Amino acid sequence: MKTILIINGPNLNLLGKRQPHIYGKESMEQYLDILRETYPDVIIDYFQSNHEGDIIDKLHSVGFDEEDMLGVVLNAGAYTHTSVAIADAIASIPVNVVEVHISNVWARESVRHTSLISSVCKGVIAGFGMDSYRLAIESLL
Ligand code: DQA
Repeated sequence: MKTILIINGPNLNLLGKRQPHIYGKESMEQYLDILRETYPDVIIDYFQSNHEGDIIDKLHSVGFDEEDMLGVVLNAGAYTHTSVAIADAIASIPVNVVEVHISNVWARESVRHTSLISSVCKGVIAGFGMDSYRLAIESLL
């Protein structure tokens, strides 16, 4: 079986508790159960970190494993808008990365309108709530 790795960046460990009017009431763990039921033929791995370097290390560790990896679904959280280092990591690896956002970042504050990672990702999915992750998985199948 091939693997899709979901990486969540800073503050996304608080899904379900954090600003539920924006990010919903479901925890990532609950949502992962649904994803794994929906895609039984894919290994859906999950990694979350609040630390930029840990996200980069994870991208490096899976990013050259084209044999086993279907791709990475990355919600880099606020690092989306600030991290040249994560953009460089994505550009450095052959495995496809899909950028995901739960909220429609373009309907929010202007600081969220710029993504430093979009240009090095396969595509961008934003604004569909937790379903953004499922749509990103679909794009990698
Ligand atoms: C987010 C949007 C970002 O602007 C924000 O910093 C997040 C979550 C989203 O999923 O909508 O942490 O990536």
